[in-house]
Amino acid sequence: MRVVDLIRKKRDGGQLTHEEIAFLVNGYTQGRIADYQMSAFLMAVFFRGMSAAETVSLTHEMIHSGIVVDLSELPGRKIDKHSTGGVGDKTSLILAPLAAAAGVWVPMVSGRGLGHTGGTLDKLESIPGFRVGLTLDEYKHVLKTTGLVLIGATKEIAPADKKIYALRDVTATVESIPLITASILSKKVAEGIDGLVMDVKFGNGAFMKSFEQARQLAQSLASVGRGLGLDVRVLLTDMSQPLGQAVGNALEVIECIEVLKGRGPADLKQLSVELAAHMVVLGQKAASLDEARRLMKQQISNGAGLEKLRAVIAAQGGDPLVVDDYARMPQAAYRAEVVASVDGFVADINAETIGLAAMQLGAGRELIDSLIDPAVGIVLHKKVGDQVQVGQPLATIYYNAAEKMEQARRMVIEAYSYSDAPPAPRPLVAETF
Ligand code: URA
Repeated sequence: MRVVDLIRKKRDGGQLTHEEIAFLVNGYTQGRIADYQMSAFLMAVFFRGMSAAETVSLTHEMIHSGIVVDLSELPGRKIDKHSTGGVGDKTSLILAPLAAAAGVWVPMVSGRGLGHTGGTLDKLESIPGFRVGLTLDEYKHVLKTTGLVLIGATKEIAPADKKIYALRDVTATVESIPLITASILSKKVAEGIDGLVMDVKFGNGAFMKSFEQARQLAQSLASVGRGLGLDVRVLLTDMSQPLGQAVGNALEVIECIEVLKGRGPADLKQLSVELAAHMVVLGQKAASLDEARRLMKQQISNGAGLEKLRAVIAAQGGDPLVVDDYARMPQAAYRAEVVASVDGFVADINAETIGLAAMQLGAGRELIDSLIDPAVGIVLHKKVGDQVQVGQPLATIYYNAAEKMEQARRMVIEAYSYSDAPPAPRPLVAETF
């Protein structure tokens, strides 16, 4: 087999066999195929796409480029959730403890934020002492003793994805549905899960901004996931305004704790319960989605979800007292209010602009190695559909550097738009696959 022939075949719209895809993935991961040939292949895939069967083969080979964690010693199904990311998207910290409280094993491997979107690992690391870099033995131990574990990707998991993703990033081939599908699913399947709930977001704050593209990704994730033998649910959800009120790491952790205490923003609670309920159905702890939703609400009202969060924080070296005393979380030195300058209804809050405002305060990363400030961020007091009057607070900015605050304030003001009448309500979950 010659790489050049496989590049040509894909370039001309042909379909590769499983053996051909295995040759490419293994050859590249093991250093036998050069970056320039893999780049050409990825660009051919970008333009020609891949069939579901080819994407299954690609994902399969990427999964087996590293270790596949064996969690079979734990009786019962292991279920994770993946989100394509958004602004204020913090559901993992709510749904993982809720599903675990209902008896589902939740081994969760998450990522860091980049650009306007936040990452679960950064939020977790805002909890003093919390360790996301567990060894595989520690990962299994925490899962076994608390029912859930929240870590970052390890070197052993899907090394092909790390190498291919780094190449895609610099060859303008990230935005390809089959490549994204294989990248997401390879990392998740290698964690040792039986089922996966995916939250594919659309809207300006999302990775896939257009509804149609996000829908195609959702369909691809569902069909390839099932093709790999995984039990999969994919929800297509709205990210045209930030989720919940808080954007910024420590502020988001506090908001999650509030939801687990039965308070917190309604949209965040609704989506977290919905995703957790799908996990519970996949985990075979409820016979129907309605029963699972009731079970999840019960884990909030009886405090079991909160206790699970406390337990996993303690198990991973974090300070569990943050759950009762938010002053133990990192605190920004200053706060500034942004007030409304018009009367009317909030018609839109551009999620991307809010995410970029939080990033420039220091809550997010401009570059992959930028340092983040866990304390800073933005709390929105008005969401889409709310009535506002001149002078009413729209948002509070939590900051440590005055010059960054002024820029963030301008961006928050720019993110809001208004109408005279209330806008039509938008469903949070557009479709489920
Ligand atoms: N997230 C991933 O994990 N992989 C991609 O290719 C894109 C987004």
